[in-house]
Amino acid sequence: MEVVILAAGQGKRMRSVLPKVLQPIAGKPMLAHVLDAARALAARRICVVYGHGGEVVRERLDAADLAWARQEPQLGTGHAVQQALPHLTDGDVALVLYGDVPLIGVPTLQRLAAAAAGERLALLTVTLDHPTGYGRILRDAGGRVTRIVEEKDASDAERQVREVNTGILVAPVACLRDWLGRIGNDNAQGEYYLTDIIGMAVAAGVEVVTVQPDAVSETLGVNSKPQLAELERIHQRNIAQRLMDDGVTLIDPARIDVRGELVCGRDVEIDVNCVFEGRVELADGVRIGANCVIRDARIGSGTRIAPFSHIEQTVMGPACVIGPYARTRPGTELGEDVHIGNFVEIKNSIIADHSKANHLAYVGDADVGQRVNVGAGTITCNYDGANKFRTVIEDDVFIGSDTQLVAPVRVGRGATLGAGTTLTKDAPADQLTVSRAKQISIAGWKRPVKKR
Ligand code: UD1
Ligand code: CA
Repeated sequence: MEVVILAAGQGKRMRSVLPKVLQPIAGKPMLAHVLDAARALAARRICVVYGHGGEVVRERLDAADLAWARQEPQLGTGHAVQQALPHLTDGDVALVLYGDVPLIGVPTLQRLAAAAAGERLALLTVTLDHPTGYGRILRDAGGRVTRIVEEKDASDAERQVREVNTGILVAPVACLRDWLGRIGNDNAQGEYYLTDIIGMAVAAGVEVVTVQPDAVSETLGVNSKPQLAELERIHQRNIAQRLMDDGVTLIDPARIDVRGELVCGRDVEIDVNCVFEGRVELADGVRIGANCVIRDARIGSGTRIAPFSHIEQTVMGPACVIGPYARTRPGTELGEDVHIGNFVEIKNSIIADHSKANHLAYVGDADVGQRVNVGAGTITCNYDGANKFRTVIEDDVFIGSDTQLVAPVRVGRGATLGAGTTLTKDAPADQLTVSRAKQISIAGWKRPVKKR
């Protein structure tokens, strides 16, 4: 099978400099969703018809398996498919998809292709309560499709028909080449209609069959921001449904956003308003609190992430306790049973099993051993304004509150750093290291009083 994706429309109603088919659903361009579907069908060739301003589309999504056909000017859907014909091979069938119909499902398309069976013209149709604006499917007394009439060309009686053309179809390439070479533009819109090939198929004795999608939402197109938002919600609702079918507990399936791939083990629980981006893996028994943003992360079994935490490019072991208000940045690797508390930021650091940084700390470019306690207000000074340096904290270290570790620096195994220490040299193992002005008290000192 070969696939033609029509994506030449400008999308003026989006009121955006970004071409319509690059507008995102679940963080990914609409056209990329359609390309995914085409690839899942193992299409032999995928040809994207693009138009004015479409170079950006091509630059953004070009790949070795894609052919690009420019349509300029845009004279209608029939004219658009014609531009792709030089890329298509007679003897094969072509599937026509739309860059602005992003939720089209692979099982539906497989049924459509099966119905075409290499020789028929197969149309994807839906029956709507309010068919206004769509091309109507006209049938004879025997129920056989005779042609499609566009809304603007239809008589009042034809407009009563509720079965409409979704635009998606499969047809033999050789037939398309023949029919599209003969269509005209003598109609209400002065366009070359792809839909005119249906009447031609009937005249040529090519059987026309219809197939309905698994869900009508698969065939919805996007022309405006409200429609984009509507499809985003439908898509997210579908993802939430799949997660729940797999056994994930979602406190509210209407309040989760997955912009990428979310893979969950058993008994995972996700509270409201969480956003997952890129590839995220949650192992068995993970619980995610409300309002967390998690991007490209692997979370070990039984780990609990409390509300308002922000996790990015992080690997966490099992049984960790994170947040609320924790932030882990790229390059964070946490072992087992690590505790990262409120207003703690970790970046490009490895923290081994059973270590804790529970309050208000910055750990950047550090290697932290096991059973280390990082006191409140502790900061690794990893940056001298020009270069970054590492801090090494060995096993069983206790770091008192409000300590600055000026990297590069090493704290030996079992060492204790007194609160308020500014560590500029390595701290030996098993000793107390403290850098602090001696405390004094001044007897008889009087507080100043305000002059009258
Ligand atoms: C088309 C169908 C109509 C169907 C409806 C479903 C035709 C003649 N009509 O009508 O039967 O019910 O879709 O939404 O096919 N495009 C191009 N180049 C062009 C014209 C269009 O690439 O020259 C692309 C558009 O970007 C869009 C798609 O084709 O993605 C459909 O075009 P549009 O003008 O929206 O067709 P409709 O008039 O809605
Ligand atoms: Ca349309």
